Amino acid sequence: MYENHERASRSARHQKKATKNHRKIIIALLIVLAVVLAGSYLKVQQVETHRQKAARLAEQETVTLQKIQSQQDRSKIAFDKQISKEKQATTIFYTPKDIKLPEDVSEAQLKELVANEQERLKTSKPTILVGQVNVAKIAEHLESFALNVANYQWNGNKEVFEKVDEKNTAPIYTNTETGEKITGKMVIESQENLLGIQQVIQQKIWDQSKAPDKIIDALLDMPRISFDNEMVYSPKSLHIKLPKNDLIDPSALKAEEDALDENGKYIALTFDDGPSPTTTPRLLDILRDKQVHATFFMLGQNAQEAPDVVKRVHEEGHEIASHSYSHPQLTALSSEELQKEMHDADKAIFEASGFLPKNVRPPYGAIDTKSAEIIGRPIIQWNIDSLDWTTKNTQAVIDRVNQTAQDGGIILMHDIYPTTVDAVGTVIDNLRNQGYQIVSVSQMLGDKAKPLNQYFGQTDHRKI
Ligand code: NI
Repeated sequence: MYENHERASRSARHQKKATKNHRKIIIALLIVLAVVLAGSYLKVQQVETHRQKAARLAEQETVTLQKIQSQQDRSKIAFDKQISKEKQATTIFYTPKDIKLPEDVSEAQLKELVANEQERLKTSKPTILVGQVNVAKIAEHLESFALNVANYQWNGNKEVFEKVDEKNTAPIYTNTETGEKITGKMVIESQENLLGIQQVIQQKIWDQSKAPDKIIDALLDMPRISFDNEMVYSPKSLHIKLPKNDLIDPSALKAEEDALDENGKYIALTFDDGPSPTTTPRLLDILRDKQVHATFFMLGQNAQEAPDVVKRVHEEGHEIASHSYSHPQLTALSSEELQKEMHDADKAIFEASGFLPKNVRPPYGAIDTKSAEIIGRPIIQWNIDSLDWTTKNTQAVIDRVNQTAQDGGIILMHDIYPTTVDAVGTVIDNLRNQGYQIVSVSQMLGDKAKPLNQYFGQTDHRKI
């Protein structure tokens, strides 16, 4: 019984074990099946995303090509279109249909430009390259031609084509009727005119030179400009390439004494609203005694009244700059009025001193983009106001400058007040005691001052 019992129970155990193993196998099979199913599901998913991506790429390509086409349509000129696709790159060429292209703007050159761009890119990203001949009517008988290559690349993250680069060749201008390219000779016409231009160029180099005595021989021996010189015409300018010459070496135009020591402490005295026949000469005496060069922002109408004083200011090495003719607020003037203000001031100063002012300080410091464009010269403001025009008190001017002086500062004063002139000697002594070297505005800013910028101090300038 016992034995039987034992056998029975062993067999039951055996059976139990077999069932357990069975289950294990089934579970394992199920897991394998699940993995296989999941795997193929993911694969299907992947293929699906891939397909979707390709579809979106194709769709975006169509959208971009349409955009390019509608831009082209806006030009209102009939164009031939060639489109080709190679691997990931689509290339389109637009060339004008019924217009004869000038020599330097051929279809072959356009294709070369696009091929170069393609070579330069060497990207595996999908790209669209658009090469076109741009034609623009500039005036009644004037047309311009230029080659243009735009390069669009696929941005996989944003899923759009983005314009990443665009290149234009310099435009060629032609006469609409004859199709002839406009040359320097057509504009200048004669040898006499060309020589007249040469004189203007020589005068300009002379005026801009920091050390005219160093370049005088080279300037006088400057080779004659001929129509063989390279000339590039555009409706706004004619560029004439000068022959290689010592004059064009910038170091010949720059005097060593001009460079300020970087470690120095500099400050500039500026005097507005003069010259006055009484106070300005007295100021000049003081500046001569103290061996200081200042900058005088003169009014044209006062320069006209006191030409001898203007001449003396120039001869004693001070800088003359323009403060307009009659001290209006320049931003409130019409373009013509503003031009006249600048012209008349320059003329009065030039007639008195033989010098054309380079820098301009607008009355009240009032300037905006439009007036800065018309003036076309550096605008000089200030960052230290002596307030002499309001206090009209000698001690107050001395104290004010003493307390507000700063490195690279431009000090605003007026040479028309006796109280200011009385202060200047002490102002100079105090500044020197504080370690400043006193320089003119041009010395302080060096060659850096540019039109369309305003300068408040040596290191503070802002685009207008
Ligand atoms: Ni003023």
